[in-house]
Amino acid sequence: MAKHEELPIPIFSSVAPVYGEGSQCEEAQLRFDKLKSKFVEVFGQPPHVFARSPGRVNLIGEHIDYEGYSVLPMAIRQDTIIAIRKHDSGEAEKSLRIANVNDKYTTCTYPADFDQEIDLKNHRWGHYFICAYKGYHEYAKAKGMKVGAPVGLDIMVDGTVPTGSGLSSSAAFVCSSTIAIMAAFDVNFPKKEIAQLTCECERHIGTQSGGMDQAISIMAKTGFAELIDFNPIRATDVQLPDGGTFVIAHSLAESQKAVTAATNYNNRVVECRLASIVLAIKLGMKPQEAISKVKTLSDVEGLRVTFAGTHDSSDPVLAVKEYLHEEPYMAEDIEKITGEKLTKILGDNPTSLDVLNVAKHFKLYQRATHVYAEARRVYGFKDTVSSNLSDKDKLKKLGDLMNDSHYSCSVLYECSCPELEELVKICRENGALGARLTGAGWGGCAVALVKESIVPQFILNLKEKFYQSRIDKGVINNNELGLYVFASKPSSGAAIFKF
Ligand code: GLA
Repeated sequence: MAKHEELPIPIFSSVAPVYGEGSQCEEAQLRFDKLKSKFVEVFGQPPHVFARSPGRVNLIGEHIDYEGYSVLPMAIRQDTIIAIRKHDSGEAEKSLRIANVNDKYTTCTYPADFDQEIDLKNHRWGHYFICAYKGYHEYAKAKGMKVGAPVGLDIMVDGTVPTGSGLSSSAAFVCSSTIAIMAAFDVNFPKKEIAQLTCECERHIGTQSGGMDQAISIMAKTGFAELIDFNPIRATDVQLPDGGTFVIAHSLAESQKAVTAATNYNNRVVECRLASIVLAIKLGMKPQEAISKVKTLSDVEGLRVTFAGTHDSSDPVLAVKEYLHEEPYMAEDIEKITGEKLTKILGDNPTSLDVLNVAKHFKLYQRATHVYAEARRVYGFKDTVSSNLSDKDKLKKLGDLMNDSHYSCSVLYECSCPELEELVKICRENGALGARLTGAGWGGCAVALVKESIVPQFILNLKEKFYQSRIDKGVINNNELGLYVFASKPSSGAAIFKF
């Protein structure tokens, strides 16, 4: 039987295979019906096909995917659904009209040109569709496929993943857009190819993100978290122990990944790149070779492991402790080691140069320590799940690993924020076995592992201790609380619907 990741995106003629039976299925059907009627209302004709892709919560393995290390997320039920109609080549309108069922998002229109530039200085919500549009055509051309002349597309979007929440609303949007475009052109690829392609699509928005969000959105399976490996992309099912539930809670601080990229997300990518080059040189590689060959901390894996081995140690950060220092590095310090200007080393990517323009210094020791130790925790998590421990002991250990991960994100990687710290603390004080920020951080959600039997009380406690004061101040409405704090089971991945 073909491996899951070798299969194309499934095509369904009803919503039940994705949304299950009962009320969730009815709710989904209602969404699709509304999406279709709004589509007809706005564009005057029905859509040809629908695509959906879910958001995700990352259970462990934060900020290590772009360094080549495996991560362990699961899909959530919130998703983005897209309805699309491809114009006939004879139709006059050669533009992409992107509308949303939510009136908050005004309709965006773009040219149908495959090679258009995305105006990153003026962020618009429709840009994410254009990332998919550009990325898909680049990929199709590189594959030698005939793409023909551009035609117009009408698109209507319905997203339920809260934006700026660290639950990958952007990946849900980019992935569903890519699949919708492919479906409109009658194209389908193996999921692992689409996971890679959608990751490249999203980089058009200006973040140097890794492939976790797209990989899980495309490859998720109902009932399983997935261990995602990169280079090549692969997903391995992880069956979580009975008796535990993941509760997702929003800190109500919005995490604007694309807008803050130069100081936050891309800054960390650059720091890791510099840390890996410096470490490679310290471990014996010639500077020029390190600059040209070493891009990520996993590229130094061999040297790092050999170093630990010769010291009879399995400590993943031994080489970091030996060769990097805790005081932040100034650009000149690094240039002395590499013998090359940072602008030259990082010149292959304009968004890295944006980072250099605003960075005061570089915390190489802290970032590398986080990445190597977090990579090990992911395997600790996976091994615990498949161990012979009782479910109770497994859950306790998983909770401890989540707590350690949060500490590292907060103290070493500095991607938390006061609201997330408060929320994580409240989760732990109210019975969570473990709690941590999830996703890029700097706002967005926390994920807590909670004994199934206490979930309703746990959520009530969060309401009282974290949300009530914010409801009183009018930050959110009482009746919206379910959007900001909810329990989630592992949900299914991307799908195409032809009704
Ligand atoms: C964002 C990125 C992911 C990953 C996480 C942090 O969600 O899109 O690729 O790097 O941040 O783990």
